Amino acid sequence: MTAASAPGKVILFGEHAVVSGAPALGTAIDLRARVSVEDLPGRTEIDVRGLGLRLSGFSIDSDGRVVSLGSSEEAAAAARYVSAVVKTLGARDVRITVSSDIPVASGLGSSAAIVVATLAALSHHMGIAMDVRSIASEAHRIEKAVQRGLGSPMDTALAAYGGYIQISDGVTPLDLPPLDLVVGCTSVPHDTRAEVARVQELKSRYPEIVDPIFKAIGVISRRAVMCIKNLELDELGRLMNINHGLLEAIGVGTRELSELVYAARGAGMALGAKLTGAGGGGCMIALPREGETSKTITAISQARGRAFAVKTGCGGVAVE
Ligand code: PMV
Repeated sequence: MTAASAPGKVILFGEHAVVSGAPALGTAIDLRARVSVEDLPGRTEIDVRGLGLRLSGFSIDSDGRVVSLGSSEEAAAAARYVSAVVKTLGARDVRITVSSDIPVASGLGSSAAIVVATLAALSHHMGIAMDVRSIASEAHRIEKAVQRGLGSPMDTALAAYGGYIQISDGVTPLDLPPLDLVVGCTSVPHDTRAEVARVQELKSRYPEIVDPIFKAIGVISRRAVMCIKNLELDELGRLMNINHGLLEAIGVGTRELSELVYAARGAGMALGAKLTGAGGGGCMIALPREGETSKTITAISQARGRAFAVKTGCGGVAVE
């Protein structure tokens, strides 16, 4: 049996603006997807019970197509990613078991972590040498193919390399200290494709308004790197609040997200809070004041969010 794990992620700054060339900053968090591979003569099985979703598993045909789908869309999606890796590596006669602590369809990089961990576990099991760089680029190609063209390299790069990554012209790993954040998830599913299309449409209608907003977001992303480096947390929190306002301005905020953002900021518990990822649903992040993590979690939970503490800058893919 071979097992590998890979982390989920949050985008700290720069979502949407990055689609038009501004820098974005993301980080790996201490929630992981785990994939184990064992020999199974005569069949190939994908078991996604460990995702905590309603469906128990799938079989796939010799071309790597998922042939028995069921009721849970997320479970089907997870199996599709694993199946694409099986096909890419030409694997057969294996049982692949997936489990994960990363909430699915929330913008926390669950699918990228599953693809990266599957590539690492399966290639290792088959005796194929894949270094982290080739895992990152292959995972990005696979995620893009399964998502029909969508998918920035951010999620797969963070799942592979861990740490912090800035995306602008290319993918740049940054050496920055860890932070303690709180993630708050709305129960509203997250549709990156629809949100990106809506923002790009707004930009083509009002370029003279949206371009400066993107430019300001880019300035925030760059400045945030220095704040994290020097642990200037008050300023980092202010930058999160400004970035959230700019994301509201381009229409990707929702009432549910803002309720969690304001709950976290309430009574000065969080130094800053913003939505993370594409918006329209999904999650927000808060930077709690020192010693206020559990109060921030309680405040977000009372606003009907699912809240948990995360550490940033965590390690990338690991064969276990
Ligand atoms: O939905 P997420 O967390 O994968 O983030 C999408 C980020 C966008 O900037 C909106 C899109 C992109 O491809 O960078």
